[in-house]
Amino acid sequence: MSGRATIPSQAGAAPLLSVRDFKLAFDTFDGVYQAIDGISFDLAPGESLGIVGETGCGKSVTAKSITGLLPSPPARVRGGQILFDGEDMLRVGEARLQQIRGNDIAMIFQDPMTYLNPVFTIGTQLVDVIMAHQRVRPRAERMRRDAARDHAIDMLGRVHLPNPERQLDAYPYQLSGGMRQRVLIAMALSGRPRLLVADEPTTALDVTIQAQILDLIHELRVEFGLSVLMITHDLGVVASVCDRVVVMYAGQIVEDATMARLFDHPAHPYTRGLLAAVPHPGRPAASLSSIPGSLPNLLDPPVGCRFRDRCALAGDDCRRPPPITAIADGHKVACWRSPGESDAGA
Ligand SMILES: Nc1ncnc2c1ncn2[C@@H]1O[C@H](COP(=O)(O)OP(=O)(O)OP(=O)(O)O)[C@@H](O)[C@H]1O
Ligand SMILES: [Mg+2]
Repeated sequence: MSGRATIPSQAGAAPLLSVRDFKLAFDTFDGVYQAIDGISFDLAPGESLGIVGETGCGKSVTAKSITGLLPSPPARVRGGQILFDGEDMLRVGEARLQQIRGNDIAMIFQDPMTYLNPVFTIGTQLVDVIMAHQRVRPRAERMRRDAARDHAIDMLGRVHLPNPERQLDAYPYQLSGGMRQRVLIAMALSGRPRLLVADEPTTALDVTIQAQILDLIHELRVEFGLSVLMITHDLGVVASVCDRVVVMYAGQIVEDATMARLFDHPAHPYTRGLLAAVPHPGRPAASLSSIPGSLPNLLDPPVGCRFRDRCALAGDDCRRPPPITAIADGHKVACWRSPGESDAGA
């Protein structure tokens, strides 16, 4: 966005995160729910990637799988790899996952109150998180509790919480929703992670506060050299913080494009539907549910294109699964009817 610091591009560098043909199902009473079906994407160091799609398309399941936070059972990995800096998160084991979550990957969520304990002060909780990070560090590098308190004040300052020292004594209920999200961001970044996974971090906030939190994430990205995976159903959020975006539909990736390509040349009919639902000045906002129809039942997924039943362009060829194919530099789409390079976005 204009006026924002640019972030050195490391496109072409080895990916920090590489999701390869990842498949995951939930074992339920009704059968096997095939939530994620063979998704692949890369995130370069320093890059900010958005994952967008309607409710239930598999965004949070993907985010939690990356950080190893999905309880199994009922979740069951059915194939693929999630490589973080070359290590497969699906196979490293809980002890190593905890270490990676403490040091390298942090996550923030929609509702900060769920992750803050109402009976402890902000200071106690933030210092506890900082101390927990120390346990996975070599003994000589560990911080003592008084230094952790100083670090907590420093982190609260970096997320622009007014009077950081005084806020240490505040209880979560004494803070507004936006301030609580700032505290959670301070907690997430206190271990100096390389990757921040943000799952709908602004959805519960009102619009002005949303913009402030997105600005903060962008600012911290520059300051900490962070990679960001931003999960949202809101293309406006993606437009303001992401370099690239993958569009998910019913547990699959249907489009993967740079921001500019996505907005100027959307190729998948589903992406076009999402974009049509983005509010414009002078045009009333439609909701994402304005795309007629609903997600297919993944207990018995349709063969072929999963968007077929909702797609105005669908034909007989759409009964075969469309492979994800490059249509331009930095732009892939899975659709038999997608426009080619020359007429995309027409
Ligand atoms: N523990 C579970 N058991 C069974 N099904 C589950 C479980 N967790 C998630 N699912 C299913 O997996 C699908 C994907 O869920 P997910 O939470 O990833 O959606 P989402 O894209 O994050 O949606 P939202 O925008 O509403 O957050 C949903 O249909 C959901 O019902
Ligand atoms: Mg979700």
